[in-house]
Amino acid sequence: MSRRILVTSALPYANGPIHIGHLVEYIQTDIWVRFQRLRGNRCIYVCADDAHGTPIMLRARDEGCEPQELIDRVLEEHRADFADFGVEFDSFHTTHSDENRELSVGIYERLREGGHIARREITQMYDAQAGMFLPDRFVRGGCPRCGAEDQYGDSCESCGATYTPAELSDPVSVVSETRPVERESEHLFFRLENFAGMLRDWTAGDRVQPEVRNKLREWFETGLRDWDISRDAPYWGFEIPDAPGKYFYVWLDAPIGYMASFLHYCGSTGESFDAFWAPDSDAEVVHFIGKDIAYFHTLFWPAMLAGAGYRTPSAVWAHGFLTVDGEKMSKSRGTFVSARTYLEHLPPEYLRYYYAAKLGSGLDDIDLNLDDFVLRVNSDLVGKLVNIASRCAGFVVKGFDARLSGELPEPELYAEFAAAGEEIAADYESREYARVVRSVAALADRANQYIDARQPWALAKDEATRDQVQGICTQGLNLFRVLIAYLKPILPETAARSEAFLDCDPLDWDSPREPLLDHRIRKFKPLLKRIERGQVDAMIEASRG
Ligand code: 2FM
Ligand code: ZN
Repeated sequence: MSRRILVTSALPYANGPIHIGHLVEYIQTDIWVRFQRLRGNRCIYVCADDAHGTPIMLRARDEGCEPQELIDRVLEEHRADFADFGVEFDSFHTTHSDENRELSVGIYERLREGGHIARREITQMYDAQAGMFLPDRFVRGGCPRCGAEDQYGDSCESCGATYTPAELSDPVSVVSETRPVERESEHLFFRLENFAGMLRDWTAGDRVQPEVRNKLREWFETGLRDWDISRDAPYWGFEIPDAPGKYFYVWLDAPIGYMASFLHYCGSTGESFDAFWAPDSDAEVVHFIGKDIAYFHTLFWPAMLAGAGYRTPSAVWAHGFLTVDGEKMSKSRGTFVSARTYLEHLPPEYLRYYYAAKLGSGLDDIDLNLDDFVLRVNSDLVGKLVNIASRCAGFVVKGFDARLSGELPEPELYAEFAAAGEEIAADYESREYARVVRSVAALADRANQYIDARQPWALAKDEATRDQVQGICTQGLNLFRVLIAYLKPILPETAARSEAFLDCDPLDWDSPREPLLDHRIRKFKPLLKRIERGQVDAMIEASRG
């Protein structure tokens, strides 16, 4: 029975470009989705721009435009960036949509009817000049613990203390540069504690990674505090129906954006929304996220869904952050590389390959080491993998009218390659892509050793041995085809070019079962090019500033 899986990646904010840090997650998810489809599962991949909140409102103000204009423009940019990296969504929608408004209001109302919403007055920093309440991060001042100047209103980067903005010495509003005052206002709260039992059960299974489960244990111990889901006008978001002048906090409607994007997909395809979201659904819902937003996805989100009568996620998989040459991405070092700048200098699949080579199932950060990147692309992809095909193709095309032989000289070797598929599949399934890449590289070494040992180039020179060349190259090209099938989730474009060159049906996970025999291939064109360190340097230079 094939599985039905709805997969999401976290929604990028609609106020800036996609960068190589974001891409870790989208590439990780896209590989998983492509793998599921090659296995014959029905897998739907949705995402959206996270289009609400104070930063987007202020960004638009700075640019002298309406928020709607900003988010429309960014939506187009994001869609193009993802498409050009081969990240293929079934729906990339926006949280500022009718579907999301309808679902957010619906979920809020069901939570309220269930007794899960509380109202009470709170005190917050208010910028009288700008006429708005300030998110903690929009107030800066001296750390109340260590005295470090110019710290955010929620935590100190120097000593790590956490506090409220009212505790800062000499607080200043980032919006108007004036001193904010404290002001009271009524807010709406989601009563997370009501879901303590449900959440303990939900997090006990395999739905989260062990590292996240440990973190959750700590959170349970500190207590599940009420969550403030409202913000006062002026705010860019959805107004709360029974609280005029108040808006849903961006983090309330953001995860609902997953459902809304899927609902949008249902609207254009006829897919059933309930088949995936009803409480008794037997489909899977899998979220890929960064480790920094685990709290939202493993506490608030399943609780909101349960409280509103929907199914809860099957799994939430968190990944670590990206470092470049061992350090945080930085504008001054030029390592804060946007997706677009990368694409102006390098082919997208090289980054897909490199990230895959680094990704495991855990929460460890992954490092893009720029020297290693050049080295691995050139040695593994070009030097080992493509080399198999380029060494064999010419002989078949020139000497045998492009026709593969009718049988393999070494069927056992082929069978070994084909048998490796199950372990590789298990590694994809559990997001151990680095192991996939290692297994394929080891097989590529074996294929090259096979060709080295048979020396078709020497045999081709001698009339007496010339006949063996067709079989050897047929063997080599078939081993290549198996490896391309295994890498297809990571390198979809290269796989498509290889299918064209081999003139074979699109590869899926079962294709390696049968070798290509007595079959005409096409002329070989180089599938991938070597890269030069200079291309990487130019990309870093272009990102500096
Ligand atoms: O952290 C972020 O970038 C958020 N925009 C992620 C939202 S994910 C989901 F919950 F919507
Ligand atoms: Zn401090």
